Amino acid sequence: MSFVHSVSASIPARTWLGSPTATPAQRVELVTALQVRPASIASKYFYDARGSALFEEITRLPEYYPTRTEQHILASHADVLAQQIAPGATVIEWGAGNCDKARQLCAWLAPQFFVALDISADCLRTGVRQLQVACPAVQVRAVVADLTLDLVLPADVPRERRVVFYPGSSIGNYDPPQALQLLQRMRALVGSDGALLLGVDLLKPKRVLEAAYDDAAGVTAAFNRNILRHVNRLIGSDFDEDDWAHKAFFNVDEKRIEMHLQARTEVHVRWPGGGRVFGAGESIHTENSYKYDLHGFTALLEGAGFAQVQAWTDAQNWFAVVLARP
Ligand SMILES: C[S@@+](CC[C@H](N)C(=O)[O-])C[C@H]1O[C@@H](n2cnc3c(N)ncnc32)[C@H](O)[C@@H]1O
Repeated sequence: MSFVHSVSASIPARTWLGSPTATPAQRVELVTALQVRPASIASKYFYDARGSALFEEITRLPEYYPTRTEQHILASHADVLAQQIAPGATVIEWGAGNCDKARQLCAWLAPQFFVALDISADCLRTGVRQLQVACPAVQVRAVVADLTLDLVLPADVPRERRVVFYPGSSIGNYDPPQALQLLQRMRALVGSDGALLLGVDLLKPKRVLEAAYDDAAGVTAAFNRNILRHVNRLIGSDFDEDDWAHKAFFNVDEKRIEMHLQARTEVHVRWPGGGRVFGAGESIHTENSYKYDLHGFTALLEGAGFAQVQAWTDAQNWFAVVLARP
């Protein structure tokens, strides 16, 4: 199947995170962020094979409303979407993961092409294979890439009628100026006859938000701590997951969930060529997840060059799916 060749053919070596060690640029990025105070690890490093599997588990948790709410909104408006996006389009999913949502979307829209983009190679491979089985008429391409860097699409991906699909409220992982830049890149990718179909998590009671990022079964805690194992493999550090407690809280002023790993005691971490000491209680910031109101998010889309915006929400107004056109 041609998409398998595309997986390897489209992998720029510098953006391959499936490899056991970091590229020089990743090493600099990781070590620099670990040495500053407060320390951080970019959330894209959550997604090694185990991290992607843990994320899938999170999406099935009772506390984690975003996945099922977004799927419900999409399914409820499948007819309208199919009217608005005629068969034969090129759907490009940004951060496709296991392609679960895209499988449904391709069944509704009958696109000619589906292009899956993700940093997590293992997850993407399984996802595109399943999608190809479910939608045999669709031409599938997969590109493993860090989407914060330049993106090169396979040469045979049509330029006309592109639909960027960006579900899961992953846009919330970027602060608003970065989110604006990302939307501008998507606007450039879809051209003048394309569209953006995106899911965005909305503001809601703090207790609902905090439970979604700190579930009773501890799956999100395991997902958060797993980033340290991944970093160990990438830069040769000796983080011990058990030294770190999972913290997730809603920062009301910034309108974002923050995830941190907090040192339970004084922790000494070493990596080849360096290391640092974390005091007891000191933390490593691992993720932000910004929450929007629909008005503010529409303004962001308009700022990025999307003039026509349609939005659908669930009955509780917890999540929105937007279809935006230039
Ligand atoms: C929150 S998950 C969403 C997955 C799926 N789209 C969904 O809606 O369930 C985020 C996805 O984006 C990918 N991702 C995160 N940062 C990335 C980056 N910088 N470049 C490419 N993919 C990235 C992850 O591997 C993961 O599959």
